[in-house]
Amino acid sequence: MSEAEVPQAAPPAFEVPRHVAIIMDGNGRWAAARGLPRAEGHRRGVEALRRTIRAAGEIGIQIITIFSFSAENWSRPPTEIRELMGLLRRFIRNDLAELHRSNVRVRIIGEREGLDPDIGRLLTEAEELTRANSGLTLVVAFNYGARQEIARAARRIAEQVERGALKSADVTIETVGAFLDAPDLPDPDLIIRTSGEQRLSNFLLWQSAYSELVFLPTYWPDFDRAALEAAIREYQQRERRFGGLVAKTGS
Ligand code: FPP
Repeated sequence: MSEAEVPQAAPPAFEVPRHVAIIMDGNGRWAAARGLPRAEGHRRGVEALRRTIRAAGEIGIQIITIFSFSAENWSRPPTEIRELMGLLRRFIRNDLAELHRSNVRVRIIGEREGLDPDIGRLLTEAEELTRANSGLTLVVAFNYGARQEIARAARRIAEQVERGALKSADVTIETVGAFLDAPDLPDPDLIIRTSGEQRLSNFLLWQSAYSELVFLPTYWPDFDRAALEAAIREYQQRERRFGGLVAKTGS
């Protein structure tokens, strides 16, 4: 990130998606294609992330959610897990002050339990420092899995019913939504996955019910403002009907 503030356009243009979520895929293949270690792909992935945060603010996106470590990523070799944890530590230590200066609000979704205590502290520090910021919201999905998130919500709802605070007959779509990790945020309008893979891989399964999905061939380390704009252009050509008949574009 540079010194300049990440601008947050006033009300976004009608066609600009308010909330964009990104599956940052292809770091390993980017590295393999260049004969480099996978770790180098992840490091370049962090640079792509910085570019993307800046571009999102400039374009007028209000919320950007990034899939930075999935609940399933624990099955990777220990050295790669250490590398990804190290990148998160460095990202927060190096970039948090500047994100704060740029008026970015950081939110975290995913399971905090089981993380190294210092990582838990860094995530909390990022949220607390930036809590009052009013610019771009950056949602970091870390140790995140959508089925796990929905199961956590179901468990907490069941606890409320057991305590008599809620009746089972009153459990609605809204109730479930209210127990998810970031209940106040709108659903993503657009979900982008890089690297040519065409699946959600346990990302935002509840929130993606009506999201437009755009799959780009670009490997994540090559992602830049032009790629983000290409995805938005594709989104703008979609007709969002939300199950109804009336055509509606944008959010
Ligand atoms: C997918 O590439 C990417 C990840 C598993 C992690 C994404 C992480 C970053 C972009 C950097 C870390 C950022 C933070 C804030 C911690 P892959 O390894 O699955 O690529 P492949 O499918 O080509 O092997």
